[in-house]
Amino acid sequence: MGLLNEGITEVIAVTENNAAPIGIIVRPGMPPRLVLFKGSRTTENILRYGWVTANFVSDCYLYPQYAFSDAAATDLMRVFAGGIMMQRLAAADAWIAFQTTVLHETEETYYIDLLPVVSEYVCKELRPVNRGFNSVIDCTVHATRYVYNPEERLHGLIEYHLEIIAKCGGPRERKAGRYLREICGL
Ligand SMILES: Cc1cc2nc3c(=O)[nH]c(=O)nc-3n(C[C@H](O)[C@H](O)[C@H](O)COP(=O)(O)O)c2cc1C
Repeated sequence: MGLLNEGITEVIAVTENNAAPIGIIVRPGMPPRLVLFKGSRTTENILRYGWVTANFVSDCYLYPQYAFSDAAATDLMRVFAGGIMMQRLAAADAWIAFQTTVLHETEETYYIDLLPVVSEYVCKELRPVNRGFNSVIDCTVHATRYVYNPEERLHGLIEYHLEIIAKCGGPRERKAGRYLREICGL
C-alpha cells in the first residue's frame, strides 16, 4: 500500500454516490484510520455500507468542489473490490479501496479503521505540484469552517492562502481560488 505514508494524507473519499475531501491518518503500528464528524454524508455512508475508496488527485479544484457540492453520477465509476461493488472517482490518478470498521465513537466523531483491499495506479505520469496546490487544500479546510463560523482569524488564514494561490498557482489553482472566494463571500 505504497500510496499512503505516515502522517495525514488528504484524499477525495468516495462513498455511495458521494465524494468529499477527507484526511487518512497513518501512524506506526496502527491500521490507517479516519476521524469523521457526525452529520456528513461520508459518515452516514460509511456506517451504512462499510466501504470507502481513497482517491488521489492532481486537480486541486476537486478539493473545494467536493467539499461544497455533490458529485455528479458521471464523476464516479463502479469498481468491484474485496467482494463488494464500490465506487471511485473517474478523475483519480490512483485509488485504494477499503473496508471499514467503527473503532470508537465520541459525541461529535467516529473513529474508523480501514482495511485496504485493492489499489490501482491509473496515471503513471509524475504530476508536479506548486505551492498553490497545497494552499488550495489548506484554504478549503479553513473555508469549510469559515462558512459556519466567519471569524476574523479564519478570514486571515483564507486570505493568506488565496495570495499564495494567486502568486504560485496555475489555471486550476486560480479557478479554485475564485471559487473559494465566492463560497466564503469574500
Ligand atoms: C482537506 C480536507 C480534509 C478534510 N478532512 C476531514 C476529515 O478527516 N474528517 C471529516 O469528518 N471531515 C473532513 N473534512 C470536511 C469534509 O470534507 C466536509 O465536511 C464535507 O462537506 C463533507 O461532505 P459530505 O457531507 O458530502 O460527506 C475535510 C475537508 C477538507 C477540505
